[in-house]
Amino acid sequence: MAFGHRYTGLIERYRDRLPVHDDTRIISLGEGNTPLIRLNNIPRQMGPDVELYVKFEGLNPTGSFKDRGMTMAVTKAVEEGSKAIICASTGNTSAAAAAYAARAGITAFVVIPDGKIAMGKLAQAMMHGSVVIQIEGNFDDGMRLVKQVAAEAPVTLVNSVNPYRLQGQKTAAFEIVEELGRAPDYHCLPVGNAGNITAHWIGYCELSAVSGEHVTEACTFCKGHCRFAGGGNAGQRPKMVGYQASGSAPFLRGAMVDQPDTVATAIRIGHPQSWDVAWKVQNESGGWFDECTDEEILVAQKLLAEQEGVFCEPASAASVAGALRDIRNGRIPEGSSIVCTLTGHGLKDPDTAIAQASRAPIKVAAEITAVTRAILDNMD
Ligand code: F0G
Repeated sequence: MAFGHRYTGLIERYRDRLPVHDDTRIISLGEGNTPLIRLNNIPRQMGPDVELYVKFEGLNPTGSFKDRGMTMAVTKAVEEGSKAIICASTGNTSAAAAAYAARAGITAFVVIPDGKIAMGKLAQAMMHGSVVIQIEGNFDDGMRLVKQVAAEAPVTLVNSVNPYRLQGQKTAAFEIVEELGRAPDYHCLPVGNAGNITAHWIGYCELSAVSGEHVTEACTFCKGHCRFAGGGNAGQRPKMVGYQASGSAPFLRGAMVDQPDTVATAIRIGHPQSWDVAWKVQNESGGWFDECTDEEILVAQKLLAEQEGVFCEPASAASVAGALRDIRNGRIPEGSSIVCTLTGHGLKDPDTAIAQASRAPIKVAAEITAVTRAILDNMD
C-alpha cells in the first residue's frame, strides 16, 4: 500500500459494487478488512490434512460482523432523510446500530430480550446513547414488534430484512477471495436469522459471475441492488455450511422453534428472518445445515482461545465446532480449504468466558515467595 493511503471502510473500498452514489455521505467507522487467520495448532492435532482459516469478524469496530451491514444500512437511512433507526437484537446488531447512529448523529432504538444478552453488548448499546428497550420476551418477539413499529412510525428498520444490510455483509466474501486468490471449498458460519450466510453467498456469486443478471436466487433478495463485478474466478463458489445451536435449530427441525435456548445467546433465534432464501443458498451451493450442542460450542471456543490465541464469542465458535466435526467424519474431505467465520469477539460475553476458563486466578500474598511458589507450582 502506498504511503498516505488511509483505509476508510468497506463502502469506499467496494464503492463500485455497492448501492451508493458519488455524493452519498458515507457513515463509516473503518469496518471490514478483517484478518483471515490460518489455524496451525488445531489442524495439526486433528488428523486429516486441511487448510483451515478463520475470518475474525470480531475485529470490526464494534466487535462483530454487524458493522459491515450497519455502515450500509445507516448510510442509506441518512441518505433517505431518516432521523432514527430501530432494530430487535440479541446484542450485536444493537451495539452496531447504536454506534453507527451516534456517528451519524441520529437516534437508535434497540429492542432486546430482557436478561438474555451478553454484558459487553448491553454496555455498548447504553454507552453509545441508544434508547434501550428491554422486553419480557425473546428476539423473535422483538422482531415482530419492531416490524410493526417501523411500518407505522418514521424510523428505519436496520435488521437484516433491510436489504442494504446484506449488501454490506457480502463484502466479507470479496475480502476472502482477494486474499486466497480463489473461493474456499467450504465456508462455515453460525446461523441465526441466516442473513449472514445469505450475504456471503451473494458475495461469492457476484464474484463468480462473468456477466449478466442474477446468478443466484438469493440475489433476488437484494431487490436489484447487485452489480456483478466478475472476479475472474468464473463458476468457483464454496459450499455454504450453516451450524445452529441444538436448542435453537429451526433449520434442522424443518420448522420454527418457539422457545429457543442456548448458551450462545447471539443465535438464540427460533424464527429466522431469512428462512426461504437460506434454503436456496443451501441448495444452490451444495452445502448443508447441522447443529452443535452447547457443550461442543464451548469446547471449540476454548480450543480457539487456548490453542490459537483467538478469542471469539460462543455463537461464533459454532462454525468451528461444526467444521471440526465434519472434517473428522469426512463430510468435509481431506485436502479441502475451509473458511470459518468468527462472527463476534469473545470480550462481548465475559461472563460465559470466565465461567468456563480452564484456570481460575491464583490469589496469593503480595510478596516474592508466594508469587514464586505460584509460578513454580504451575510450570507446564
Ligand atoms: N453470530 C453472532 C455473534 C451474531 O450476533 C449473530 C446474529 C449470528 C452469528 C447469526 O447471524 O442472524 O445473520 O444468521 N446476531 C443478531 C443480533 C441476531 O441481533 O445481533 P445471522
